[in-house]
Amino acid sequence: MTVTTRGTLPSYLTEGRAVFPEGFVWGAATASYQIEGAARDDGRGVSIWDRFSHTPGKVAGGHTGDVACDHYHRYADDVRMMTDLGLAAYRFSVSWPRVQPDGAGPINPRGLDFYDRLVDELGTAGITPYVTLYHWDLPQALEDRGGWTSRDTAYRLAEYAQAVHARLGDRVRHWTTLNEPWVAAFLGYGTGVHAPGRTDAASALQASHHFLLAHGLATQALRSAGVDEVMLVINSSPVLTPAQVADPAAEISEADAEAVNRVDALLNRQILDPVLRGRYPDEVLKIVERHGGLDHIHDGDLREINQRLDLIGVNYYNPCAVRSGPGEPANPAFPGTEDVEFATLDVPATAMGWPIHPAGLSQLLVRLSQDYPEVGLMVTENGAAFDDAVTKAEGGDRVHDADRTAYLNSHLRAVHAAIEAGADLRGYLVWSLLDNFEWAEGYHRRFGIVHVDFATQRRVLKDSARFYRDVIKENGFA
Ligand code: FCB
Repeated sequence: MTVTTRGTLPSYLTEGRAVFPEGFVWGAATASYQIEGAARDDGRGVSIWDRFSHTPGKVAGGHTGDVACDHYHRYADDVRMMTDLGLAAYRFSVSWPRVQPDGAGPINPRGLDFYDRLVDELGTAGITPYVTLYHWDLPQALEDRGGWTSRDTAYRLAEYAQAVHARLGDRVRHWTTLNEPWVAAFLGYGTGVHAPGRTDAASALQASHHFLLAHGLATQALRSAGVDEVMLVINSSPVLTPAQVADPAAEISEADAEAVNRVDALLNRQILDPVLRGRYPDEVLKIVERHGGLDHIHDGDLREINQRLDLIGVNYYNPCAVRSGPGEPANPAFPGTEDVEFATLDVPATAMGWPIHPAGLSQLLVRLSQDYPEVGLMVTENGAAFDDAVTKAEGGDRVHDADRTAYLNSHLRAVHAAIEAGADLRGYLVWSLLDNFEWAEGYHRRFGIVHVDFATQRRVLKDSARFYRDVIKENGFA
């Protein structure tokens, strides 16, 4: 199926020359549990995603990350592929249970050895590593002691951050504390769709606060070890009514505006305001108060959280569409959203069912740059899952992923438009380098610009990878 989004988009998203600023960082992103495999090698401990994926009924097809892309053993070939694509940067995450099997206590040097080899390989290839310390694979031993509902976990993350930095800090300059704390808290502890699979609004809100505390403490640990650049990666979306998706200038009712504001507070400002302003939005505090209370927010926490930050990493896939919906129950991912309707949009969607709306990325980047001018921005994930087919061709197999190529094309143009409009954007990292373990969706959802045959581990560059390679080479669309 080929979805064409052309014709429904403003022409700046589809046509003409677009050159990016000099030094704009082009790269790709992955995450440890999604690609590494080698789940029992070299002393690696068990993470909440091992436990969750091995629990029947939790992941589509009963898939697990046991083998994934076997990147743990094939990293050198994968780095060669990155070179072939012309990537300047590679964002990967470190598996906490590989480095510290129980999340506390002894460090496992053999786990760190892997990242040591990877960083050296990248160095030889001239590719800059962007290291994410936490992309969701919490050691199960910490979950058994309360996981992110426990304050202690935040302190453990800072200690682990120190250990990783001690080994890699001589070669890694770009550090990210957390990937998408909102998703980890609200899908992990609220809807239960992600590990550890808990379903309690109060727990999700507590987890969210402890993630922010962990970010603040880990940032302090990194700074005292001499780190210059710290980034926090968030899943951010513009919150819009369906009418505003169709026409950004659409007038909306007061009730719709209230729904938009409440969801924006939960999705975006719940994370950004404590981190960058040292305070929670009032709307969020009211909701937390009604769900288990405020006792877990200790005096002084917001000072710990509000540390100097260099970059916000923005993971963008789709807008969040809401409107007033009297009588609607709260969405379990958004405690406190009674009387809000989460709307479906009448636009083309990806295989995840996520609506395609590139203009939302421009709006988001411009808004973040205006509201939080003190930090730079980087798109740390953007991409799409589609059902790909491998076709035999002379000179090797091909994957004609026209949908993904169109998605990337329009979103890169949206990124360019945001820069023109003044957003302080430093780079773009595609999600993802490889088809991989897409969490609760298992291997059925392919986000890679490189196709992976999971039976043979063969990699094939998709057409979207060839397209991306050209964009990188031209630093835009010539
Ligand atoms: C993001 C995750 C990433 C990937 C994409 C599709 O929320 O950070 O690991 O699964 O979604």
